[in-house]
Amino acid sequence: MSRRILVADDEKGIRAALGQLLEYEGYEVRAVGTAVDAIAEFEKWRPHLSFLDVKMGGIDGLEALKKIRQLDPAALVVMISGHGTIQTAVEATQLGAYDFLEKPLDTDRILVTLRNALQHGNLQEENSRLRESVESRYEIVGKSFAIRSLIEKIERVAPTPARVLISGENGTGKELVARAVHRLSARSANPFIEVNCAAIPSELIESELFGHMKGSFTGAVSDRPGKFEQADGGTLFLDEIGDMSQSAQAKVLRVLQDGVVTRIGSAKPVKVDVRVLSATNKNLEEEITAGRFREDLYYRLNVVPLHIPPLRERREDIPLLASHFVRTLSEREGVPPRVLDPAALDLLTNMDWPGNVRELRNTLERLLILSSGPRIVVADVERIAGRRVADSASLGSLLECKTFEEFKHAAERAFLLAKLREFDWNVSETARALEMPRSNLYKKIERYGLTRETV
Ligand SMILES: Nc1ncnc2c1ncn2[C@@H]1O[C@H](COP(=O)(O)OP(=O)(O)OP(=O)(O)O)[C@@H](O)[C@H]1O
Ligand SMILES: [Mg+2]
Repeated sequence: MSRRILVADDEKGIRAALGQLLEYEGYEVRAVGTAVDAIAEFEKWRPHLSFLDVKMGGIDGLEALKKIRQLDPAALVVMISGHGTIQTAVEATQLGAYDFLEKPLDTDRILVTLRNALQHGNLQEENSRLRESVESRYEIVGKSFAIRSLIEKIERVAPTPARVLISGENGTGKELVARAVHRLSARSANPFIEVNCAAIPSELIESELFGHMKGSFTGAVSDRPGKFEQADGGTLFLDEIGDMSQSAQAKVLRVLQDGVVTRIGSAKPVKVDVRVLSATNKNLEEEITAGRFREDLYYRLNVVPLHIPPLRERREDIPLLASHFVRTLSEREGVPPRVLDPAALDLLTNMDWPGNVRELRNTLERLLILSSGPRIVVADVERIAGRRVADSASLGSLLECKTFEEFKHAAERAFLLAKLREFDWNVSETARALEMPRSNLYKKIERYGLTRETV
């Protein structure tokens, strides 16, 4: 792509010479003789770089510079100064000009300045593109009431020092939420350190979290800071906290109480300033009852709870998420963006998504890669995503109920049916999961006339 260069100088000779030189170098050039024309041309043509003479008839180059930078704060401008105007050119750089050239113009110097300036422009563009893609990676998409109130809570709690416990099924976006809390906090310029408590063997978790001294155990070949120290000044995200061993739980509790960590094999406690966020897909209250999770730690971690409901309970988010993923994934995979056929989108919206947003995202990724043609149609979804259509028909019919009694009846029926299917019609398992006596469940099955064939 050839770069557009604007030249503004009231000397015809300069316009011609610069124009010739730049065209010869492969740039596209337009030349004007006044500052007013320079501004107008800039607005219409949006050049990659503008050369402005400091002194032109009418309003001068400095005014044009100000105007152009107002039109585009990132505009690249190189001032050209004649004899006696060098001081003004220096002032111009303070007004945002990238550089200045002195008359008589020297060919090499022009080209060097030009290349540097354009490279600088590329970097700026690259940076803002990177920033955008990073931000869109952390963007929480959704318009359901649940997501809107979640975002509102995040915005309220993020700037405070409060510890946050994020709960939700697999793939609902717990890590995304943790990163958003960090990004919106005063600690955002400091590290965000993540520890997946389920992925680290229990004998290593303490050294991972608190660090160790050389020789403190076999394999400790050098002194090493733990994740708490690495996160100093920032945020520590304890993911899958429900899988942490009892002894690590006790030590984490102590760090949270005292604000100091002691590396394994060291006698010297180190002060740390860390905000702890944690996440779990388990029901920690149940874990506490079962004696697997410390209640005192739970209360320390769960100062502010953030719960993310499963995707099937907020289906209205699916179309938004789907188009968000189609857009971002096509960019990433370098495939042309595809259009989701309304019927295909309907089908996706009515599926159950036990793996939640992650599963939806992976499915769309497969659809983008494996489907051919400019549109993703129902047949693609059926072929690639399989037929996992939810009982949307029976759920949808809830809204048509006339009385509350009728609604309760229909809701319970749909719920029991879904649960029985989940446990493949094993009545004992289903009854246990629902915490109801088996005989009770049998009675309900009879009352609602449920069978494996029921739709
Ligand atoms: N509301 C959302 N908007 C946009 N992307 C989302 C949203 N929720 C989840 N995602 C995306 O879905 C994927 C899974 O999210 P994430 O890893 O945060 O889930 P998780 O709850 O931590 O899952 P797990 O329990 O399996 O660790 C990520 O790619 C994430 O960016
Ligand atoms: Mg996660």
